[in-house]
Amino acid sequence: MSATIIDGKLISAQIKDELKEKTAVLKAKGIEVTLAVVLVGEDPASQVYVRNKKKACEYVGFKSLSYELPAETSQEELLKLIDELNGRDDVDGILVQMPLPSHINEKAVIDAIDPSKDVDGFHPMNVGALCIGEEGFVSCTPAGVIQLLKRGCEGNISIAGKECVIVGRSNIVGKPMALLMLRENATVTVAHSKTANLKEVCKRADILIAAVGKASMITADYVKEGAIVIDVGINRNADGKLCGDVAYDEVKEIASAITPVPGGVGPMTIAMLMNNCYEAAVRKAQEK
Ligand code: GUN
Repeated sequence: MSATIIDGKLISAQIKDELKEKTAVLKAKGIEVTLAVVLVGEDPASQVYVRNKKKACEYVGFKSLSYELPAETSQEELLKLIDELNGRDDVDGILVQMPLPSHINEKAVIDAIDPSKDVDGFHPMNVGALCIGEEGFVSCTPAGVIQLLKRGCEGNISIAGKECVIVGRSNIVGKPMALLMLRENATVTVAHSKTANLKEVCKRADILIAAVGKASMITADYVKEGAIVIDVGINRNADGKLCGDVAYDEVKEIASAITPVPGGVGPMTIAMLMNNCYEAAVRKAQEK
């Protein structure tokens, strides 16, 4: 039997609609949510991402401030802008689109963002908070995967006690994903390019999360019958077609549930960014 498709487009739309309602309630209390979006250079993919983030802000009722800086912008100039945005009471969230031009140190930029405005959840303070179970901002893509698991399959997926294998150990996806699944009481394995017997390790998974960045690498022989398969990858195959890390057509015949690419994890990232911005504004208002 073919797997149930977990529809990220639909679930992200639900989350954005919920946020739209909650944002209207805040607005009625005189609180406006504002996201500052910073783009350095003219990378076409980044331009698309930034445009979509600004569109999502408009949809849910946030104000977005846009800073589109030339590729030659110095690190000092960028840090000065971040400092200014950190100090502005009317800015709730700051997003600096990655990757940055090679003359700018990404870590220095991430570290400069006020953790209470770090809606990407990249600052070491927020990563540390996630690690020890304190309140903070969680990286949007792994947070989106949790929502897909909680809301997909009519809310019938249980995570607690399940074997979860995550393939990939990046700071943005693999590592925070492991911490989030642990928080949900899964038994978590993080596999990576050096893992021995990767196929066998993946085959243990009740929930298999692929975040490797290799087109269609997870074939049917990596997947246990009835597993839930989440595909974080966004790659182009030899024909230039968008595809995930999972060989979708064959894996969907074995899995019990699966996310497609596109239309799975992708749209969730922006929805969770909107959620983090909303939370930033609410937390700021509570401090006053
Ligand atoms: N570049 C690719 N994904 C992301 C993301 O989630 N946040 C930022 N700031 N840049 C990115």
